[in-house]
Amino acid sequence: MTAPIRDNAALQELDKRQLHPLQHPKTHADPLVIERGEGVYLYTADGRKILDGMAGLWNVNVGYGREALAQAAYDQMKRMAFTSNFAGMTNVPAVELAARLSGYAYADLKTTFFTSGGSESNDSAFKIARYYWKRQGKPEKFKIIARKLAYHGITLAATFATGIERYHKMFGPAVPGFVHVAPPYPYRFEGEIKDGETVGAAAARLIEEAILREGADTVAAVIAEPVQGVGGVIVPPDDYFPRVRAICDRHGVLLIADEVITGFGRTGELFGLNRYGVQPDILSFAKAITSGYLPLGGNQISDAIYDTIQNAPDTDSFMHGYTYSGHATACAVGLRNLQIIEEENLVERARAMGARLRSGLDSLAEFSMVGEVRSLGLICGVELVADKTAKTADPALAAKVTRLCQDRGLRTRNVGSTLAFAPPLTITEDEVDEIVRILGSVLDTL
Ligand SMILES: Cc1ncc(COP(=O)(O)O)c(C=O)c1O
Repeated sequence: MTAPIRDNAALQELDKRQLHPLQHPKTHADPLVIERGEGVYLYTADGRKILDGMAGLWNVNVGYGREALAQAAYDQMKRMAFTSNFAGMTNVPAVELAARLSGYAYADLKTTFFTSGGSESNDSAFKIARYYWKRQGKPEKFKIIARKLAYHGITLAATFATGIERYHKMFGPAVPGFVHVAPPYPYRFEGEIKDGETVGAAAARLIEEAILREGADTVAAVIAEPVQGVGGVIVPPDDYFPRVRAICDRHGVLLIADEVITGFGRTGELFGLNRYGVQPDILSFAKAITSGYLPLGGNQISDAIYDTIQNAPDTDSFMHGYTYSGHATACAVGLRNLQIIEEENLVERARAMGARLRSGLDSLAEFSMVGEVRSLGLICGVELVADKTAKTADPALAAKVTRLCQDRGLRTRNVGSTLAFAPPLTITEDEVDEIVRILGSVLDTL
């Protein structure tokens, strides 16, 4: 075995052999080379310590360096790392995890289909919705209503479900059937608000109007993130999702909840829509199911959908699945991760630490470049603006602040002109205060 390379410059040079996601190679000249992590901190190959205010990519909910998860993976790999989960076979951890998840997020969603990540989960959700309507004798119901500034992933279908233009630009022609409406974004709502209407009601109305415009007999589903993360940490008003659910019911349209970042405690509830007393028909999850220790994702489906699949004739079998659907080691780690979330009361912790982070970030709202602070549980956004009155978005400023925070030992992510904060749910009070202190010092410098 060759000795591991620990020289930062050498690693950075060798890293040129990787094509990195979502980046022009020339902006990747000086990457942070992470060598290890512990709790909420990352340590770079050149000896820097960085508080990971993003929990990786909104997913390392239990924090870094968990022996118990390493042990779960080790034990399972020794017994049997992987085997087929296709027709006629299954494995113990996949069985146990699906059983554990039955009714876990939403009482009515009892059946799980496993994938390896969020994009695959959303792609699967679209195929499940199409399958369902075909079996109902309505094959023309295939369209998906999504929101602008939505991020649903990177497979071809998820790319065009995503409502952010720069993800589409180099990858057209577009996958047909995705229709976007304005998001429930009170700070910058771009739709018309009628007399006596709330922003939540107006934003929900846009979904209903889109269904009517397209024809309800052509619309399979609405897909929505409970909090739009990549689009700018957009937190909807409380009356939005109950209305969206009612609209879907009124027009015979399925509701897909993309809980890839909001699942497993992030919002201070186990799942994002729990807050609104709303249940989706299809759930997409990924990321924090294993806290990122291994790739795993999936869908949960309602009984009506499961019954449709179960009662279909052989000729209409559910011809969908990935080699790694129900990966034994990933599922074993997922089970252990759920146990940690429960034993350490991390959902409640997200709520408490989220409130502390929010009040700290609110104290920075007096800076002229802070347009708005918003949050739900432990997912927070600080939107930066060039002019507070005109609310002029300033993505370049957000990129600059992100860079300066990193230089001072804090990792955030600029999503548009918003800085996102979604640290591990295990974060302590002192560590929350450290986020606020570093961000405050950067804003002060500017
Ligand atoms: C809401 C949402 N959906 C889907 C995805 C895609 O997940 P993945 O990158 O695991 O494919 C992401 C990734 O950040 C996401 O934020």
